[in-house]
Amino acid sequence: MRPQDRAVCSLFLLLLALTKPTKNSDFHLAGDYLLGGLFTLHANVKGIVHLNYLQVPKCKEYEMKVLGYNLMQAMRFAVEEINNHSSLLPGVLLGYEMVDICYISNSIQPVLYFLAREDSFLPIQDDYSNYVPRVVAVIGPDNTESTGMAAHLLSLLLLPQITYSAISDELRDKQRFPSLLRTVLGAEHHIKAMVLLMLQYGWNWVIVLVSGDEYGRENGYLLSEQLAGEGICVAFQETLPMPQPNLALTEFEHERLVAIVDKLQQSSARIVVLLSPDLALHNFFREVLRQNLTGIVWIASESWSIDPVLHNLTELRHTGTFLGITTENVPIPHFSKFRVRRAQAGPPTPNKTSPPATCNQECDTCLDTTKSFSTILTLSGERVVYNVYSAVYAVAHALHSLLGCNETSCSKEVVYPWKLLQELWKVNFSLLGRQIFFNKQGDLAIGLEIVQWRWDTSQSPFQSIAFYHPTQRQLSNISPVSWNNPNNTIPLSMCSRSCQAGQRKKPIGLHPCCFECLDCLPGTFLNQSDEFDCQPCPNFEWSHKSSTFCYKRRTVFLEWDEAPTIVVAVLAALGFLSTLAILVIFWRYFQTPMVRSAGGPMCFLMLTPLLVAYLAVPVYVGRPTVLTCLCRQSLFTLCFTVCISCITVRSFQIVCVFKMALRLPQAYSYWVRYHGPYVFVAFFTALKVVIVVGNVLTTTTIPTILSDPGNPKIMILSCNPNYRQGLLLTTSLDVVLSVVGFSFAYMGKELPTNYNEAKFITLSMTFYFISSISLCTFMSVYQGVLVTILDLLVTVFNLLGISLGYFGPKCYMILFYPERNTPAYFNSMIQGYTMRKD
Ligand SMILES: *[C@@H]1O[C@H](CO)[C@@H](O)[C@H](O)[C@H]1NC(C)=O
Ligand SMILES: *[C@@H]1O[C@H](CO)[C@@H](O)[C@H](O)[C@H]1NC(C)=O
Ligand SMILES: *[C@@H]1O[C@H](CO)[C@@H](O)[C@H](O)[C@H]1NC(C)=O
Ligand SMILES: *[C@@H]1O[C@H](CO)[C@@H](O)[C@H](O)[C@H]1NC(C)=O
Ligand SMILES: *[C@@H]1O[C@H](CO)[C@@H](O)[C@H](O)[C@H]1NC(C)=O
Ligand SMILES: *[C@@H]1O[C@H](CO)[C@@H](O)[C@H](O)[C@H]1NC(C)=O
Ligand SMILES: *[C@@H]1O[C@H](CO)[C@@H](O)[C@H](O)[C@H]1NC(C)=O
Ligand SMILES: *[C@@H]1O[C@H](CO)[C@@H](O)[C@H](O)[C@H]1NC(C)=O
Repeated sequence: MRPQDRAVCSLFLLLLALTKPTKNSDFHLAGDYLLGGLFTLHANVKGIVHLNYLQVPKCKEYEMKVLGYNLMQAMRFAVEEINNHSSLLPGVLLGYEMVDICYISNSIQPVLYFLAREDSFLPIQDDYSNYVPRVVAVIGPDNTESTGMAAHLLSLLLLPQITYSAISDELRDKQRFPSLLRTVLGAEHHIKAMVLLMLQYGWNWVIVLVSGDEYGRENGYLLSEQLAGEGICVAFQETLPMPQPNLALTEFEHERLVAIVDKLQQSSARIVVLLSPDLALHNFFREVLRQNLTGIVWIASESWSIDPVLHNLTELRHTGTFLGITTENVPIPHFSKFRVRRAQAGPPTPNKTSPPATCNQECDTCLDTTKSFSTILTLSGERVVYNVYSAVYAVAHALHSLLGCNETSCSKEVVYPWKLLQELWKVNFSLLGRQIFFNKQGDLAIGLEIVQWRWDTSQSPFQSIAFYHPTQRQLSNISPVSWNNPNNTIPLSMCSRSCQAGQRKKPIGLHPCCFECLDCLPGTFLNQSDEFDCQPCPNFEWSHKSSTFCYKRRTVFLEWDEAPTIVVAVLAALGFLSTLAILVIFWRYFQTPMVRSAGGPMCFLMLTPLLVAYLAVPVYVGRPTVLTCLCRQSLFTLCFTVCISCITVRSFQIVCVFKMALRLPQAYSYWVRYHGPYVFVAFFTALKVVIVVGNVLTTTTIPTILSDPGNPKIMILSCNPNYRQGLLLTTSLDVVLSVVGFSFAYMGKELPTNYNEAKFITLSMTFYFISSISLCTFMSVYQGVLVTILDLLVTVFNLLGISLGYFGPKCYMILFYPERNTPAYFNSMIQGYTMRKD
C-alpha cells in the first residue's frame, strides 16, 4: 500500500468509528436542516499519545467540563425554541448533530463527519457548489486551537462556522478563515478591559501567569503590549506547566508550581493576571492554598472567569479577591429549567434512515453533575450561553432569508453552505434586546462585564462590578468591589509609591514604574511634562526645595529698618549736627584769626555743600528711582569737589601766595583782583559738572535688577552697575586736586602750626582716595546689596572726614584755646617762624 492509500483507509476507518451507534439522543435531533455543534464536555489538554494504534480519544474517561455541557444545552434550547415558535422558520424543522471535541483532541474527526454526506462519504469533486454536506452550519468549538483547526477545513467548503468563545485575534483574518464568524468579542477587547480595570484602581505593578499553550502565549503577548502603552509594569511573567492527562501532578510540575507560588509570595506586586484555560489552574490553586498565599487580587481571563468548578474551591476566598472578564449577562427566559431537563422524545421525525450515531456523542455523568451545579449556574447568568443562543438564531435568520420564508411557510429547497454563508454575513436582527449582526471581521459587538467572585450564597457568585462597551472602549457602571481585606481598602500594587509634588523620579532598574523620589533642589522646579528632571527656574525667579513652580525673587534695596541704615543715618545726623555747629561757631568767631586763617568766607563755601550732602543721605535708602540714582551719582561727588578745591586753593594761598606776590606781582594782582580762589573753585566745580553730566548721558541711570550670587532668593535693585567707571573718572579729578592740595600742604609743613593743616588735609585726602579705590574694587568683584551700603558708608565717612578732619581741630582750638586765637598770638607765631627761617 502506498502512504496515500493508507491515509485514505485510515480516514475511512475513522469515519466508520465515528458512526458506531449509540442510544443517547441528547446529541442528535433529526430535522430538515442539521446544525453541527462542537462542545467540550470533557477536557484534557492534550490527548494521550497512541504510538501503536490509531484511535479516537475516549473522552468519557477525561474530566467532565460542566460549562461545556451547559453550552451544549444552550444550543439544544435555541433549536427547540426555534422549532416551537414557527414564525421564524414556519414548517421547517431544525435538527442538530453535536459532538464532544474533548477540548482539542477530537476536533478534526467531527469536522470531517460534518463535511461528509449522509452516507459518510466525502467525495472529491471539481466543484463543490452543489455539494450538500451533512450539516448546513457548525456552531463552535469553544477554544482557539480547535476552532482554528476546524475553520481551516470548513473554510475550504465555505461551510459557515460560528464560534461562541474562541477569542484569538488571529481568527479575525478573513483571508484565512472566510467562513468563520464569532458571537464573542476578540482578545484585544478582553485585554483592554483588564488594563482599564488596572488603571481604574491605580495598579501599575502586576504579575502575569500564562499557560504554556497558544492561549497563554498569544494573550500574554497582547497583554504585555497593551500594558506597556499604559505605563503598567510587569513584575514578572511565568508560564504555568500544562497538566498531564487526568490532572496527575508530576515531580517536575510540582517543583515548578512551588517555585512560582513562592515567587508570588516574595513579590511586592499584589495583582496576578492569569491567562490560562481552567484546566491548568486546579493544580496551581491547590498549591496556592497549600502555601497560604493571601492578599492577592486575581484577574481572570474569560477562559476561567465564571468556572463553577474552580469557584467551588471555596477556600480560595482567603487568598484574596477574584476579578474576572466575561461576556455580559443576557437573561434567557426558561433556560435554567431547560438546562437540567432530560432529553425528551423529539417531534416525530420524517421517516428516513435511522439516526446515525457516533462515539463522543455520549456523556453519562453530564446531566447529574450539571444538576449538582445547577444553583450556581443559574445564579451566574446567561453569558457565554447567550453567545451560543445567538449563534443558533443567526443561522436560523440566515435560513429564513435564504428559504424566502413568510409568516406561514418556507420553500424547503436544498441549502448550499456557501449560499447560507452569504446570508449569515447579512443578518441583522434583535434578540432579547441585543442587536445581532456581524462586523467586517465577522465579530459580534457584545459587551463585556468585569465580575467579582462572591461566596455568600445569597448573592450572585459572579457579581458584576463594571461594564465594558466595545465601541466606547471604556468601563462604565462601575460599582464598588468588596476587597477581601480587613478594612475593605483597595489593595495597593505599585512598584514605587507615586512621588509627592515637586519630587522627581529617579528610575531604578529598567521598569518605568520603579523609581526613587528625589526633592527638586532650590532654584529648580518640576514641570508636569518631565517627571524625571527638575528644570531650572527662569532668570529673576526662584523656587523653594521640591517645588512645582518658581516665584519672582524678592527685590532687595536699603530700607530704613535695617541696622546698617540706622547706623549710617545716625552717623549722618551727627555729621550734619556737628557741621551745623561748626558753621555756627565759625559764624560766631568769624573775625578771629583762626577762622580767617582757615579760609574766612571760603569756609562757608565748604560747609554749605557738606550740609547739603548730609541732608541728601536718605537718597540711598528706599527703592531706587531715576532721581535718587542721579543724586547718588552726582550730588555727593559735586559736593566733594567743591570742598576739595577749596582746601586745595587754601593750601596754595598759604604756601605760595607770598612767593607769587614776590616773583609774579602781575599775576598776583590778577589773582586778587579777580578773586582767584573763587574762580579756581568755580572752574573745577564746572569741570566736575561737565564730567558728571557726560557720565550721566553716556550711561543710563535707570535702576537695574541684579541677582545676588550669595543669596539666590533675592534680587537686588540697584543703580546702574556701570556707574563704577564713571565713579573712577570723577574720583580721578578729586584725586588730582587732592594730590595738588597735599603737595602744597607738604611744602608748607614748616609753617606755624596754626597755618599748617598738612596732616589733616593729608588724612582726609588719603582717606577719600583709599575709600574710593576700595569701593571701586569691591564693586567690580561683588554685586550685592552690600555695594549700596558700602557706597553710602564711604560717602558718609568722607563727609565726616572733611567736616571733622579739617574743621574739627580748628573748632577745638577756637573753643578750648581762646588765648591762641588772638592776633597777638598769631603775630608771635609768625615772628617766631620768620626768625627761625633767618
Ligand atoms: C417547546 O414546546 C414544548 C411543547 O409545547 C415545550 O414542552 C417546550 O418546553 C418548548 N421548548 C422551548 C425551548 O420553548
Ligand atoms: C498554612 O496554614 C495552616 C493552618 O493555618 C498551617 O497548618 C500550614 O502549615 C500553613 N502552610 C504553610 C505552607 O505555611
Ligand atoms: C419507516 O421505515 C420503516 C423501514 O425503514 C418502515 O417499516 C415504516 O413503515 C416506515 N414508516 C413510515 C411512516 O413511513
Ligand atoms: C464543591 O466542593 C465540595 C467540597 O469541596 C463538594 O462537597 C461539593 O460537592 C462540590 N460542589 C459541587 C456542586 O460539585
Ligand atoms: C407564503 O408563501 C407561500 C408560497 O411561497 C404562499 O402560498 C403564501 O400565500 C404566502 N403567505 C403569505 C401570508 O404571504
Ligand atoms: C442593523 O439594524 C439596526 C436597526 O434596524 C440598524 O440601526 C443598524 O445600522 C443595522 N446594522 C447593520 C450593520 O446593518
Ligand atoms: C484598619 O483601620 C484601622 C482604623 O481605622 C487602622 O488602625 C488599621 O491599621 C487598619 N488596618 C489596615 C490593615 O489597614
Ligand atoms: C512645562 O512644559 C510644557 C511643555 O514642555 C511647557 O509648554 C510649559 O510652559 C512648561 N511649564 C512651565 C511652568 O515651564
